[in-house]
Amino acid sequence: MINVSNLSVRLSGKTVVQDVRFTAKAGALTAICGPNGSGKTTIMKAISGEIAYQGSVRLNASEIGSLQAWQLAEMRGVLPQASAISFPFTVREIVRMGLTSGRNNHPEQADRIAAEALSSVDLAGFEGRFYQELSGGEQQRVQLARVLCQISEPVVDGRPCWLLLDEPVSSLDISHQLTIMTFARQFCRRGGGVIAVMHDLNLTALFADQMVLLKSGRLQAAGAVGDVLTDRHLQDVFGCALRVNRVPIDGIPFVLAHSALTD
Ligand SMILES: Nc1ncnc2c1ncn2[C@@H]1O[C@H](COP(=O)(O)OP(=O)(O)OP(=O)(O)O)[C@@H](O)[C@H]1O
Ligand SMILES: [Mg+2]
Repeated sequence: MINVSNLSVRLSGKTVVQDVRFTAKAGALTAICGPNGSGKTTIMKAISGEIAYQGSVRLNASEIGSLQAWQLAEMRGVLPQASAISFPFTVREIVRMGLTSGRNNHPEQADRIAAEALSSVDLAGFEGRFYQELSGGEQQRVQLARVLCQISEPVVDGRPCWLLLDEPVSSLDISHQLTIMTFARQFCRRGGGVIAVMHDLNLTALFADQMVLLKSGRLQAAGAVGDVLTDRHLQDVFGCALRVNRVPIDGIPFVLAHSALTD
């Protein structure tokens, strides 16, 4: 479980996250949604142990601030919103960076884990390509494969492992969006936990179990997707009159931008 309570973060003297609280359970996919600048990435950095915060963030019952870097690396993998790489690394080299930071550093396992990670993101055969010569979506999937090398199993020694993914599908075509979100859901179904920042409300409705909705650094709502994804919450948070509908066959919510068009 990841338990966030009274989380506040100040950056450059400004409070950008204030009193946020929610719980993400292993076995469930939790989506964090909200407008640009609402604090999603800042919260992910706090949960990842990358920035100082006030309040409490507990990862599998341990306060993040009390964990060593190697302990964090064994328990959670982090896909940042943006990853700049300025050296001419190959895909193989970048993906294997994940192997050195996690527990998957046994040489006999390394090849298998790296190959499985690349296959999971549909990049089998890309090992020898230079990262900088890949498309934006391919680069995003390489970064995800690096995370999957670090956290290759959803449960280790009876404890859940976590994927913390900041906009994992923002550069991907619809087919690869489905591939990655399906993978994330499977990771949860096998006992792991996923927290993903999402802008796509329809993918969120389709794949997430829980939804955390932010506005201006504060929590607007948190809970089951069907309870959070409402006309009123969307109006309050995004300031436009979006209408939530449901797919007749299965009742899954969806939101069309058309509903908020004013002319
Ligand atoms: N280092 C910083 N110093 C000061 N303010 C910052 C810093 N980093 C981010 N902010 C501000 O904090 C707020 C939240 O930023 P954050 O990156 O968490 O937003 P976000 O919800 O992830 O947005 P997006 O959807 O655009 O990625 C924004 O107003 C941003 O300008
Ligand atoms: Mg962000």
